[in-house]
Amino acid sequence: MIGVNLDRSGNRDFVGGRVVDPGLGLDAIRTIVVRRGKVVALLEGAPAAIDAECERIDCAGMVLCPGFIDPHVHLREPGDLHKETVASGLAAAAAGGFTAVAAMPNTRPPIDTPDRVAALVREAKAAGGPHCYPIGAVSVGREGLEIAALRGMAASGAVAFSDDGAATRSLKTLYNAARYTADLPQPFLSHCEDPSFADAVMHEGATSEKLGLAGSPPVAEAAIAARDILVAQATKKAWHLCHVSAAQTVEVLRWARAACIAVTAEVTPHHLQLDDERLAGFQARDRVNPPLRSAADTAALRQAVADGVITVFASDHAPHGADEKDAPFAHACVGFTGLEVAVAATFHALPQLPLAVMVANFSTNPAALLHVPGGTLAPGSPADITGLYLQRPWTVEPRDFRSKGRVTPFAGMTFAVRPALVVVGGNVIMRDGDLSASALAKPAAKAKT
Ligand code: DOR
Repeated sequence: MIGVNLDRSGNRDFVGGRVVDPGLGLDAIRTIVVRRGKVVALLEGAPAAIDAECERIDCAGMVLCPGFIDPHVHLREPGDLHKETVASGLAAAAAGGFTAVAAMPNTRPPIDTPDRVAALVREAKAAGGPHCYPIGAVSVGREGLEIAALRGMAASGAVAFSDDGAATRSLKTLYNAARYTADLPQPFLSHCEDPSFADAVMHEGATSEKLGLAGSPPVAEAAIAARDILVAQATKKAWHLCHVSAAQTVEVLRWARAACIAVTAEVTPHHLQLDDERLAGFQARDRVNPPLRSAADTAALRQAVADGVITVFASDHAPHGADEKDAPFAHACVGFTGLEVAVAATFHALPQLPLAVMVANFSTNPAALLHVPGGTLAPGSPADITGLYLQRPWTVEPRDFRSKGRVTPFAGMTFAVRPALVVVGGNVIMRDGDLSASALAKPAAKAKT
């Protein structure tokens, strides 16, 4: 049994794993030598003399990667602690193979002030485990009208800005916010859905027509993507599109590439492989924003990843209570829990993608997007490591989730890839699903709601 060593010195040798680090062009068996929480060497073979102060972790059979960073999660604190707390969300992140997450600001109240950013930083530190990076709202209350205190939030630790959950309503607000922060490294993360389609409950297509439900067409996403990319071009602000769902949006991204506009984009495991026919029997629990689209859209997204047009994976972890999901269409909460299935489900959707690209999209590219440490195991880097078994089939059983959200469209599916190890700052916080060596094993009880 490993991971029981609670010493915080972070001196460990991770021995016998296949180390895949796209930034280093490395794919080989190496020992990752970690001292005081940092990688100090990647050695061929096992070190001859083992330091008595140092724990040796056997990683034979695992792929060891720079820690996976999920740039898009919803942690529901403050406001909806029955759906998720920072502690339960970070436990889910560790169980799912992530060493870091970035938390969206659509809490109640929203994270739109420096104090609320600082409170999330404090809460996450107290929870322990994976790093948690706040994303500040672009606009006050996420209402799209008044620019939030962006510089103050950046100073308090916000790594990006987004009104996610909805597009920033006013072009003028978005444009001025981007101009005002063009010199800051924090990118804008766009939720691309035209607000005039807010009444839609699913993708507009044959299934919505058959069911007689209001649908949102791909252009509702692609038009806002084009708008925001034009703002990025005009302001030179670093920009990223969240959860791209439509083939038409991929076309907009291809145009942006051709025009040399610096914009990146992410895709979720559900948009890569699930389509709107899942809702054909009025399955309101499969509602998500943006919605599950057509099979042709899922194919276009997989092609966009293969072509390097989409370079970031994100879970869009959006936990809700089971009763909040099992409701009539108009009332069902939108989104699903994602952290504990995202890695496996994404590998499942993209069986042909080279392993180095998978790792880049889960680690190197999100680190570069958010300007956060990690994304490589080069000596001197933080010892944040994700270990995977590539062939360890398991079946998704939401009852076992650490997240309070137990609704996922992937329930009952069997996946080959399984997160095996999570190391943060040299400390093992998850091994084979066991979090018992980490502070996350005992999340503090919360009285507030
Ligand atoms: O489905 C979604 N749920 N999409 C979003 O953008 C927000 C999220 C949530 O917060 O529930």
